[in-house]
Amino acid sequence: MANHLAEDTTLSNGVKMPWLGLGVWKSKEGSEVENAVKSAIKAGYRSIDTAAVYGNETGVGKAIQECGVSREELFITTKVWNADQGYDSTLQAFETSLNKLGLEYLDLYLIHWPVKGKYKDTWRALEKLYTEERVRAIGVSNFQPHHLEDLMADSEITPMVNQVEFHPLLNQEELRTFCKKHGIQMEAWSPLGQGGDLLKHPILTEIGDKYGKTAAQVILRWDLQHEVVTIPKSVHEERIIQNADVFNFTLSTEDMKRIDALNENKRIGPDPDNFDF
Ligand code: A2P
Repeated sequence: MANHLAEDTTLSNGVKMPWLGLGVWKSKEGSEVENAVKSAIKAGYRSIDTAAVYGNETGVGKAIQECGVSREELFITTKVWNADQGYDSTLQAFETSLNKLGLEYLDLYLIHWPVKGKYKDTWRALEKLYTEERVRAIGVSNFQPHHLEDLMADSEITPMVNQVEFHPLLNQEELRTFCKKHGIQMEAWSPLGQGGDLLKHPILTEIGDKYGKTAAQVILRWDLQHEVVTIPKSVHEERIIQNADVFNFTLSTEDMKRIDALNENKRIGPDPDNFDF
């Protein structure tokens, strides 16, 4: 199993990033997140996605130290929170995250949300961290095409990654096209629709039955075939293992289209053009 998970996408700067990682939003600080990260690494995951605001960087860091896999084999992402945006405060937030994680460098640092009037200064801080090789890649999260255009018009480095809400009810076709055109790797948060009714959707379960897979596995495979990096969250070992077992089947073109057709442009999370936190 471990070998399958070693499959990577190559970011625009040549850095390799695993197609599948573990998300830890809502995994509790302490033993819950530590056990989730350890189970994932044992199951072959090499990519872990956290954020300062998740409040679990210390637990993620502890699991990384204790997991028995060397630092260079892992791909660790965290994000600067909205309240810390701005040039100096971002540089400070980066040090805080790195200390909590117990790391000397990050693989990917993201701007968590496009905070109006702040994200360009924040980006300049990320460019500095990248230039100084404190982080191997930099990117954004929850950016719409117009945010990306605005940022790119005014910066040296194009974001390497854009991590957004992406699942069959919100398939982000326009954003995907935009990112592809500009060499920005799309990454899906809440790929499983946060584990709600989506996993019981009759079309997804029907397709799953055909391939001997669960609805969750069908969705994650659909992400990969759309060339979207995916980071399902679970704190249960059997689900962590299940979610990674998606490299041994291929959805037919017809099944991909049936899943594409489920799109309702429906967000579970906040609208990036209208959030207040
Ligand atoms: P749990 O952590 O208790 O396993 P998303 O990644 O879209 O945010 O979804 C995460 C949610 O989906 C969590 O509530 C998680 O619960 C649940 N989940 C993760 N993997 C599976 C799975 N394979 N089958 C069912 N539920 C899952």
